[in-house]
Amino acid sequence: MSSQKKILVIGSNGQIGTVLTKKLGQKFGFENVIGSDLRMPDAPTKFIFEECSVLNKEKLEDIIYRHKISDVYLLAAYLSAKGEKNIDKAWDLNMTGLLNVLNFAKQKKIQKIFWPSSIAVFGPSTPKNNVQQYAITEPTTIYGVSKLAGESLCHYYHNKFGIDVRSIRYPGLIGWDSMPGGGTTDYAVDIFHEALKNQEYTCFLSKDRTLPMMYMDDAIKATILIMEAQANKIQIRTSYNLSACHFSPNELAEEIKKYIPSFQITYKPDDRDQLAKGWPASINDKHARNDWGWKPNFNLSQMVSDIVLNLRNRYKK
Ligand code: NAD
Ligand code: SER
Repeated sequence: MSSQKKILVIGSNGQIGTVLTKKLGQKFGFENVIGSDLRMPDAPTKFIFEECSVLNKEKLEDIIYRHKISDVYLLAAYLSAKGEKNIDKAWDLNMTGLLNVLNFAKQKKIQKIFWPSSIAVFGPSTPKNNVQQYAITEPTTIYGVSKLAGESLCHYYHNKFGIDVRSIRYPGLIGWDSMPGGGTTDYAVDIFHEALKNQEYTCFLSKDRTLPMMYMDDAIKATILIMEAQANKIQIRTSYNLSACHFSPNELAEEIKKYIPSFQITYKPDDRDQLAKGWPASINDKHARNDWGWKPNFNLSQMVSDIVLNLRNRYKK
């Protein structure tokens, strides 16, 4: 196997993949980054793109072999809201996709894996605030159930076969460069586009539904940081708690009003509010900070300022 790092991002067209592939390309060279997804990207990419389902083992193996892949970032998944409407498919994609990639590592076809878990592994029986790494995990969504099982699978493959698989429990992610794909925290992206386009937004979560959230820049920073850390620094092989900030839709709207004073928000909670109700309001991430030096750069006001700055021109009339 060559010593050159060659990276495959599976689910590269999604909310995180769109941004992560750019950052990885800038850091390691676009010639060393291969993106893959079910569908072709909307715009030409600087990295090589391969159309493939993570469920198609033969085709995936061929991509890994042809490009001499060393590191895989597995992002293809059904998220919480979409998962509740497609339980069997969510289980299949979230579990079989992970198992396929773990088995490539077991067969020594790849060296290192990043696979994200989520705050959705927690549930109503978890304490609400400052949730610790080893708090109760009794999820009430198929998404959370699959993430919890995935964490155990990663832990098992690491212990039994020495697989170098690394994971973080992302909070809700917010960015300006890509759109989300069916989660409960999607409101926090939609709100910026509607505020800048129409100066109004109808929110599908309750006004005071506080959740742990993170700016995409911080999520990408954490992802690359954990993957580049020395293996002996990764003490947790299920998945690390990760935190940056937490806020409610009302607090986010108030922050946006500082830039768009005419902005109006109304609330029409739907099923997704019930999913969010079972999740923590804030997370304790001391293990990520101690083990591999994690520290976020963005709080709520810094994040809002940066998103408005980046999106403003797009909607200028
Ligand atoms: P997304 O839905 O935006 O993107 C997923 C991508 O995977 C899409 O481009 C989709 O076309 C692709 N995909 C779907 N099925 C596929 C298949 N069979 N083969 C290959 N590609 C397929 O998701 P995201 O927000 O980018 O999330 C990526 C990962 O991060 C997921 O595991 C998700 O659970 C996790 N996560 C995300 C958040 C968040 O707020 N975005 C929070 C916690 C965890
Ligand atoms: N942002 C994700 C979701 O809402 C949480 O993992 O599904």
